[in-house]
Amino acid sequence: MALPIQIVPSVLPCDFARLGAEIEALDAAGVDAFQWDVMDGQFVPNLTFGPDVIAAARRHTAKPFEAHLMVLTPDVMAARYVEAGCSRLIVHAEACPHLHRTLGNIASLGATPAVALNPHTPVSAVDHVLDLVDLVLVMTVNPGFGGQSYIASMEHKVSELRDLIGRRGLSTQVNIEVDGGIGPTTIAGAAAAGANVLIAGTALFRDPEGLEHAVSDLRARAETARLAD
Ligand code: DX5
Repeated sequence: MALPIQIVPSVLPCDFARLGAEIEALDAAGVDAFQWDVMDGQFVPNLTFGPDVIAAARRHTAKPFEAHLMVLTPDVMAARYVEAGCSRLIVHAEACPHLHRTLGNIASLGATPAVALNPHTPVSAVDHVLDLVDLVLVMTVNPGFGGQSYIASMEHKVSELRDLIGRRGLSTQVNIEVDGGIGPTTIAGAAAAGANVLIAGTALFRDPEGLEHAVSDLRARAETARLAD
């Protein structure tokens, strides 16, 4: 049984002056969880959410929070984001010289460990930690900002990762997530390649028919693409 398609908003494009209301609207629109793009201005050239912002948003939905830690020091920050209400922490392989230990530390905090790969980073970087994670994030843009163009060549990487996960017998345990430029014209390729967790930011807010339509349309496109594969 394949892992279910999940449509997960990036909080990055939200109106930060109305964050609680935006979270409630996305929840009502049918998203499956929320992704907080945490950026430290070092690992990526942007600075975003501290743990207190996430903690303040926590009461506005019962759906899971995941923190995408685009930071140089995930070991230092992890506990604060778990305390803020994130049940999954995604660290970048490129920021973790001791990735195996970092993922184990996240699990010891009571959160679910996950790992992200920048576009240039090969799938082999996660070969020896797949047993420690429930998700691998294949970035389909270079991290740092929303609204960028989808890097379609990452679909080969998603398929390579799907094959590796399958060879390890982990197809029902390890999700494949994509993040960046996911919208009506790109989601089918990502889903057909093997992604089941699809992060959308800009595309959700650009749909002229509103958030609920955006979520259901993206979900339908992903489901159809996967069936056709
Ligand atoms: C990049 C960010 C974006 C954001 C979603 O570091 O992680 O990928 O979540 O971006 P868009 O607006 O392209 O969906």
